Amino acid sequence: MQLPSPIEEIHLRSCNNRDIKLFAKRDDLIHEVISGNKWRKLKFNVKQCRALKHECILTFGGAYSNHLLATAAACQKEQLKSIGLVRGEELNIDSNHMLKQCAEYGMQLVFISREDYALRHEKEYHEELVLKYPGSMVVPEGGANYYGMIGCQEIMAETENDFDYVFVAQGTTTSSCGIVLSLPEHTKLVVVPVLKGFDSIMEMRRMFNYSGFPSEIIDDLMTQVTVMNDHHFGGYAKYSDELLERMEQIFEETNIPLDPIYTGKAFVAMLDFIEEKDVRNANVLFVHTGGTAGGKAIEKETGRCFS
Ligand SMILES: Cc1ncc(COP(=O)(O)O)c(C=O)c1O
Repeated sequence: MQLPSPIEEIHLRSCNNRDIKLFAKRDDLIHEVISGNKWRKLKFNVKQCRALKHECILTFGGAYSNHLLATAAACQKEQLKSIGLVRGEELNIDSNHMLKQCAEYGMQLVFISREDYALRHEKEYHEELVLKYPGSMVVPEGGANYYGMIGCQEIMAETENDFDYVFVAQGTTTSSCGIVLSLPEHTKLVVVPVLKGFDSIMEMRRMFNYSGFPSEIIDDLMTQVTVMNDHHFGGYAKYSDELLERMEQIFEETNIPLDPIYTGKAFVAMLDFIEEKDVRNANVLFVHTGGTAGGKAIEKETGRCFS
């Protein structure tokens, strides 16, 4: 594991003459599989599993879930068992290479109906699962819990943490909540939700609230957050030619691999923000949250070159 992850200065033509120092926190380089925000979100879940003397992490994911794969790999590495509840009872271990890899890492895969999968956030369902799979600690889909959030605090702790702006892609909000918790007051966190119609502020508030933060502290934290909610490019896992073209150009200039699901959208949003807000004389950080494997698959499909 490459920890702390490297931080690199990036030079982009579009930032020339703006007196901007632009850096990328390369969490994508942490590990081949447990990469990006995946290890950040799993680290304290693994510790908590051990502290509770549980022997297994049970979690949820779709057929192509990076979180499932990362959990399977992390559990094997940490000598814990893992169970993955996969959406779709029609699937099996041979349905795709990712599920196969999960099984190779020792994950027990349980294929469940969409109706059962819809219960994945319900406390009663978790209690049922723990009875059915004794010794398991349930970790939500995407590692989206308190332990995931505090693991993401370590991202900024590995930097000088003296930026004017920090940019990050947003799915469940776990990473962005962890990051904003660790920022000094003068730093703005710009979040880029990749889902269409996603209410970032409400979802971040919900994550903090669920983690026991009082509303006064949440109000304070949210003053540091800016949302760019017009860079989802059609919604989750959707992308346009324009997005791919811009990612190709960024990759050519920086050699930083991007994916069109998360990091590509966030990087492009960052460049648009700098242009639209006419940002000058600033220290800027892009948090690279990984996703390279998904990016490579789409690259192959589309014949483009961005990773
Ligand atoms: C590559 C990548 N970037 C960003 C995110 C979004 O992070 P979060 O769900 O913590 O908001 C994800 C989802 O986990 C992801 O896989």
